[in-house]
Amino acid sequence: MDPASPTFSDSTWRTVHLPHDYVVEGTFTPTADVGHGSLPVVPAWYRKTFVIPAGDRNKVVWLDFDGVFRDSIVYLNGHKLGEHPSGYTGFSYDIGKFAHFGGSNTLAVHVDPTQREGWWYEGGGIYRHVWLNVANFVHVAPMGTYVTAKCASSKATLTIQTSVASSQLRGTDAAGKLISRIYAPDGREVAEASTPISLQGNPTTSTQTAVVRQPALWSLDRPQLYRLHTILQVSGATVDETDTPFGIRTIRFDAEHGFFLNGKHVEIQGMCNHQDFAGLGIGLPDSIMYWRVKRLKAMGCNALRMAHNPPPAELLDDCDKLGMLVMDENRHLGDTQLPKSPTGTTYSDLSDLAWMVQHDRNHPSVIMWSMCNEEPLEAGAEGAKIFTAMKDVVHRYDTTRPVTCAMNYGWGQGISLVEDLTGFNYFNSPADYDTFHKAHPSIPVYASETSSGTSDREVYADDKVKAYVNQFDMRPWYSDANTAEQAWQPVISRPYMAGSFVWTGFDYKGEPTPYGWPDINSHFGSLDMAGFPKAEYYYYQSVWTTKPMVHIVGPWNWEGSEGKPINIWCYSNTARVELFLKNRSLGSKVVPAASHAAWSVPYAPGTLLARGYDAAGRTIAEDTVQTTSSPVKLQLSADRTLLTADGEDAVVVSVAVLDQKGRIVPSAGNRVSFQISGPGQIAGVGNGDPADHDPDKATSRLAFHGLCIAIVQAAEKTGTIRLTATSPGLAPAVLSLQTK
Ligand code: GAL
Repeated sequence: MDPASPTFSDSTWRTVHLPHDYVVEGTFTPTADVGHGSLPVVPAWYRKTFVIPAGDRNKVVWLDFDGVFRDSIVYLNGHKLGEHPSGYTGFSYDIGKFAHFGGSNTLAVHVDPTQREGWWYEGGGIYRHVWLNVANFVHVAPMGTYVTAKCASSKATLTIQTSVASSQLRGTDAAGKLISRIYAPDGREVAEASTPISLQGNPTTSTQTAVVRQPALWSLDRPQLYRLHTILQVSGATVDETDTPFGIRTIRFDAEHGFFLNGKHVEIQGMCNHQDFAGLGIGLPDSIMYWRVKRLKAMGCNALRMAHNPPPAELLDDCDKLGMLVMDENRHLGDTQLPKSPTGTTYSDLSDLAWMVQHDRNHPSVIMWSMCNEEPLEAGAEGAKIFTAMKDVVHRYDTTRPVTCAMNYGWGQGISLVEDLTGFNYFNSPADYDTFHKAHPSIPVYASETSSGTSDREVYADDKVKAYVNQFDMRPWYSDANTAEQAWQPVISRPYMAGSFVWTGFDYKGEPTPYGWPDINSHFGSLDMAGFPKAEYYYYQSVWTTKPMVHIVGPWNWEGSEGKPINIWCYSNTARVELFLKNRSLGSKVVPAASHAAWSVPYAPGTLLARGYDAAGRTIAEDTVQTTSSPVKLQLSADRTLLTADGEDAVVVSVAVLDQKGRIVPSAGNRVSFQISGPGQIAGVGNGDPADHDPDKATSRLAFHGLCIAIVQAAEKTGTIRLTATSPGLAPAVLSLQTK
């Protein structure tokens, strides 16, 4: 029988919690597509039975799906609600017609990820949130609020647009009233607008203005957020209330001087990212997305490119809260460029783009709309025509941000002549930037994608069999790619370049360039699949942050190589770095601009110490690398130990294999097993090894160069979770976490 049918029995099915990716639960296999992560991809069903109270009969009831990968078909009580092809945009269904009020309802969702939208790991399943909404007939329309601010002489004039839905309000001339209250970041009410509205149209859009004096601006260091509280009244009674967070800030791209936030120059120090993570695939709990943004921020990254698709709302919330700029990206030039939907419909109404702009336009973090990435038509007249149509759609919903795209050829032609900013994905030579800038001096330019440098954590020699790439930033894998230094120097040395987005922040499944199987994930990240920093992370930290730091790149465990010269690099933002071996100076060096200092050091076991000095010669940063002894114990750590008991909240627990003196043993590859008790589960494991075929869903993991992770997820119950890590021959470790 068809699982869409309400009488179908799903008693043998298992219970899963959203967000969920079932493709990541599979077994890596060389016959599956390596570009997409070497995991088999098949269709699947989800079902949920739930009660809708009888009292909701006189209400509007609808479902919001934030993202299902992909080609979903949704049924309620056996009735088809609709289909949605794209895995990267949300969609809604009014369920009033088919709902059983005061009774049980069966929702069935068919998911088919077999047709791809991209060339990276895309997962499969209901991997973003689903919401059941209940509202009065007259209500604030979904995505129906839009706040923009014009700043002038210490005040901001807000324009508030509100769309009110009243479809089922028949034959009424009831008086409507729209009240918009503005709350400052400190919670004070600072402005209000109150307007009578007509309830005859559907939807009715009203525009109000409000003035905020001495606005607290949203910035990267102080990401201050305001809140619009919308109250809708009919005949004096409140029928709906919603909240819309927003920020007050100005943005400007200048063709000569780059990007300005609130009138101050900001170099865009960006990273591109896909959405998946170790252990979870694309089904990331909100807290893991937040954790990832924090990791990137600690590297000095101040901008994220949502490569190559619209992100979930929660990720944009994180960028708003943490102070991170966003290049928001639509999946395709045109629309969900699909041969067909499950029933053969083709899509060309630009509805994906319209959704993205309406959904994301209140986020202060979003500074540009990207229409697409590397499209075959980008350099020609047809591409320019489609792009222009897309720009019109953007302008229907937002006129405050420039419209751009990520081009990898054809600058000076096609789309680059009709867009507001021109993005460069790579170059043949840095002179390409200048050629374009000279020919089009009024078009702002930035690098929408750079580097594609590859490396693996703690790997110091390429290994073509295991498929590892060494960490010395020396050799790009193909002619268009560049090392981190080759990519950043041309950007930072050109004042007209607004900045760049590096490919990528985190490794992701699929695209294991420059190798294939046995690799199952990419090597492009500054952080590996499990979120551990590679050497490149410290390069960007040295050029993107000002808090004094020095980092030694190079191993110091070379038993049998005594006396042989070893390459040692230092990344630092200090004036001068001095390297010591066993307290003996090996000389001090000025780190060349946007580069590294290098030494060749004859190996001798002991401690290698790097000291960073300020201009006056004072030590302001230090780093050491030591020769370790053999592994004796495990250590567990997490950046927080209090979780919300909501069945979703999760924390990344790092596992380190240590020697007697508590130092991480870089050669350690011990298998670590996890036991968990209390109200929590292990949601996944990982280690950053791109050639490890152990499953992401497991209760054990090999350490990779001394480290691995377990992701612990709270149940819907309060209490104490105890995570125990054991490994033969090593002292175990225990971590306690509370759920509240
Ligand atoms: C770019 C592309 C990215 C990724 C990268 C790998 O051209 O936009 O999605 O494939 O290459 O180097």
